[in-house]
Amino acid sequence: MSATIKDVAREAGVSQATAARALAGYGYASERARKRVLAAAERLGYRPHAVARALVSGSTRTLGLVVGDIENPFFALAARGMADAAGEKDYTLLLANSDEDLEEERLAVEALLARRVDGLAVAPTSPESLAHLSPVAADGTPLVVLDRPLRGLRVDTVTADNAGGAAAAVRHLIALGHRCIGVVSDSPEIGSTAERLRGYRSALREAGLTVNPHLVSVGGPSADEGYRTARALLERPDRPTALFTANNFMTLGTVRALRDLGLRAPGDVALIGFDDTDWTTIVDPPLTVVAQPVYEIGRTAGERLLARCAGDAGAARRIRLETRLIVRASCGEQTTRSDLANLGGAS
Ligand code: RIB
Repeated sequence: MSATIKDVAREAGVSQATAARALAGYGYASERARKRVLAAAERLGYRPHAVARALVSGSTRTLGLVVGDIENPFFALAARGMADAAGEKDYTLLLANSDEDLEEERLAVEALLARRVDGLAVAPTSPESLAHLSPVAADGTPLVVLDRPLRGLRVDTVTADNAGGAAAAVRHLIALGHRCIGVVSDSPEIGSTAERLRGYRSALREAGLTVNPHLVSVGGPSADEGYRTARALLERPDRPTALFTANNFMTLGTVRALRDLGLRAPGDVALIGFDDTDWTTIVDPPLTVVAQPVYEIGRTAGERLLARCAGDAGAARRIRLETRLIVRASCGEQTTRSDLANLGGAS
């Protein structure tokens, strides 16, 4: 049985109250008493009982984070940013996974609240997430939304400029001469995807191009789904001359599809993907991407949550971090319209 505060107090020759104050670092304890208590705790191998401490202090010093897919490197890096912010304030980050499933997300939120996290950050998997997140915000639990905006919830929200980043990618392809630009996307139920599709469409319209719904290929949130979704476009008789892929998994699936179909970027199809990852510079050719500040998204979400835990009662903030178009080789150079005609580049 592990040592209790009572054992430590007896061992140190002080009252239980003095031992509790010395161990938890609140209230008064003389330097002499504090040293005796800490030495006794060390000798006895005392470990603080987190739940007991939380009942006394009213705080578990934990933050909860619900991510869309624990295997997705995007969420790993965002969680890193949030964990660093939490650690600097002696908070611990508790992670839960929704697998982009609404019911799983609801259960994850409940599980973290049941463990009395001091604040909760969620990357909502659907607009329907509102049903279980609104009551959390309403009861005053510090709540931050990251990566995907959620209409109807007035809480701090930290995302990348998804629409702006997507529009910049499509504008670049248009500037290279492409008029028949497809998009490989997962579900627009996911807020970040919906914003990227909006950016894709706005860039086409801005250039006077029609949005051809047959060139918007939508699948599920995995690389395998990205593969299937990309092949649906690449196997069209009027194959697009360029592709924009809506996130890292869609890009991965598309690169595999190009390989299996014996197609090359940019020779056969120009390619720009949303999300930069470790492998985008390793593949041949290196990929042109829209990079989002993933670590900063997580860190900023953590900082906002900690501020709310510390009593910040200001208006909800909509923080949208800039993306960056990194031009590498997969989108090709300026293409003459005759080249595109040879590629079947009708809009
Ligand atoms: O698959 C990860 C993608 O979905 C990232 O682009 C991130 O923004 C998330 O919404």
